[in-house]
Amino acid sequence: MAKTVKTIGVLTSGGDAPGMNAAIRAVVRAAIAKGIKVKGIMRGYAGLLQEEIIDMEGTSVSDTINRGGTILYTARCTEFTTAEGQALGAEICRKHGIDGIVVIGGDGSFRGAGKLSALGINTIGVPGTIDLDIACTEYTIGFDTAVNTAMDAIDKVRDTSTSHERCSIIEVMGRHAGYIALWCGIANGAEDILLPERYDGDEQMLINRIIENRKKGKKHNIIINAEGIGHSASMARRIEAATGIETRATILGHMQRGGTPTCKDRVYATIMGAKAVELLAEGKSNRVVAYKNGAYVDFDIQEALAMTKDIPEDQYNISKLMSR
Ligand code: ADP
Ligand code: F6P
Repeated sequence: MAKTVKTIGVLTSGGDAPGMNAAIRAVVRAAIAKGIKVKGIMRGYAGLLQEEIIDMEGTSVSDTINRGGTILYTARCTEFTTAEGQALGAEICRKHGIDGIVVIGGDGSFRGAGKLSALGINTIGVPGTIDLDIACTEYTIGFDTAVNTAMDAIDKVRDTSTSHERCSIIEVMGRHAGYIALWCGIANGAEDILLPERYDGDEQMLINRIIENRKKGKKHNIIINAEGIGHSASMARRIEAATGIETRATILGHMQRGGTPTCKDRVYATIMGAKAVELLAEGKSNRVVAYKNGAYVDFDIQEALAMTKDIPEDQYNISKLMSR
């Protein structure tokens, strides 16, 4: 028989993402509507191990749906990657009467969620990362806000780049995943997009294209470079030396992680947060909420973590066609 969950804990873990507050709000309000108590766990797994646990009411999440960041704060916690840390985490949950947890974060956070679940604490993951790099889901909370923030910033760089007839290398976030770079590359009409999944390091090819583009009459040359490739400043120096065209590097950085969440992020976060509570109320554990083929679904955490995802080749090819 399904175990009845009486008290749900909610935490955010790993890199923050706009829309995490909307997800927390949804967990709190969906749980309270079912007569389930909610406790907020501050600073991810680190706060769990420090017993930074607060009671949450419906009003605890008032005025948060529109706020970036996470009201529960977030952290990375090495201690929780150890068996002792995980056992302590489960023990603290029991001590505080927490029999279900919603973990809002990325793959690393879901690994931790799987461990808690194996230790008898019903646990559900909600995908929250600007990187869109969780294989089981077509959407991750924060991506839409991050790409729109980056797109606006790149438009601004493009204005000055055109005025000065320069080449601009703009570095966007994504250490292992090029989704932000690909989307901005398409949305901003970049001449080249360097993705961690695809770039072969052929800088001469970039240089040749910049020279060709200038001959064609292009006034600027925007190269979107993903963080995982990096080295934007030194790349700019080499390109300027080889082409004679003034080249500047701009690293957008953590501004992409902040700001007011877009409508899309608020809505997906709200539905995913509420779905996580439904799963816990049904007695389920070790699941990740996902969005796939137009529907909200859920997967076993280990199966989800074993899935792989790659940049869609057709989208990458279309981006290249547009930059001719
Ligand atoms: P994300 O969740 O965004 O992928 P991280 O990879 O930094 O971010 O993971 C967030 C946290 O999840 C880590 O600091 C750690 O506390 C926990 N975590 C990551 N991997 C594991 C693991 N294998 N076992 C237990 N906890 C983990
Ligand atoms: O996972 C989100 C992300 O912003 C990545 O794109 C980036 O590589 C990483 O987090 C940076 O994390 P930190 O907060 O440690 O700078």
